[in-house]
Amino acid sequence: MSQLELIRALPKAELHVHIEGTFEPELMFAIAQRNQIDIPYMSVEEVKQAYNFHNLQSFLDIYYAGANVLIHEQDFYDLAWAYFEKCAEDRVVHTEMFFDPQTHTDRGIAFETVINGLQRACDDAKAKFGISSHLIMCFLRHLSEEAALETLAQALPYKDQIIGVGLDSSEVGHPPSKFERVFAKAREAGFLVVAHAGEEGPAEYVWEALDLLKVNRIDHGVRSEEDPVLMQRLIAEKMPLTVCPLSNLKLCVVDDMAQHNIRRLLQQGVQVTVNSDDPSYFGGYMNDNFIAITDALDLTAAELKQLALNSFEASFISAEEKQKWAAEIVAIA
Ligand code: ADE
Ligand code: ZN
Repeated sequence: MSQLELIRALPKAELHVHIEGTFEPELMFAIAQRNQIDIPYMSVEEVKQAYNFHNLQSFLDIYYAGANVLIHEQDFYDLAWAYFEKCAEDRVVHTEMFFDPQTHTDRGIAFETVINGLQRACDDAKAKFGISSHLIMCFLRHLSEEAALETLAQALPYKDQIIGVGLDSSEVGHPPSKFERVFAKAREAGFLVVAHAGEEGPAEYVWEALDLLKVNRIDHGVRSEEDPVLMQRLIAEKMPLTVCPLSNLKLCVVDDMAQHNIRRLLQQGVQVTVNSDDPSYFGGYMNDNFIAITDALDLTAAELKQLALNSFEASFISAEEKQKWAAEIVAIA
């Protein structure tokens, strides 16, 4: 079996995908039209040309503008459904999907509208494709602690539908410590917790996410390598890093895929996983990310299998389900 065939055959879990970042320009145009919302582009081609980023903020500005056309429950359903169709093509059998409620509630869209649309797509994906999913609600770290607390309160009635909380948006200048009290409350309420750290921000932010937010996983975390003591801690605690190779390339976190540290992290024993982050904006879904690192770093079949195993091991599914997927991965010749 070639590396490409193996990538396609492996069952995989996606643990770091922002549903608003799966918004393909074609769907954005269709939804904008039916909601009669003007977007600053004349064509799908023009949208794609605008996707030329030099850092995280230059991406976020365009990403939040795109989300503005989402108004109705059906819009959120269509967005998530399009992503599940990609999952089915890529053999992503489980996904833990981020959504940014504040991006929508700040525009007057009800929390309920967002969650109902996403949940219905999750239910249909289970029924039609057998894909399981969890929802993770992210706080926008460029907004205040108070706004995050308000969002947490809005989420409580939907506690059964939201497995955890996360932290995303502009990293530098908004350290995890800003949300220590919010995350304590979230954990107390029974949410699992994750946080973006060490994407553009320093290794110090990863320490804060571990020590102050007490996260179950680190999203990105690629800058952890700059701190050998932190590396030892991540390895000893089997702390997962949800790495997003094409995202890192597009946002200039790395200059060249051949310089990406995912293989080194894996070889040192860090529990790294492969993810797409915002696939519509960064040029590819799960398998595109696997292919990009395999081509650039010459990954072996054993390493590809380890990455797929890690994705389930680091997920929030049950021990029995982890066992089942691990057995299937090991059995692939
Ligand atoms: N929101 C969507 N994608 C993000 C990323 N890569 N980092 C921080 N916030 C995000
Ligand atoms: Zn992300």
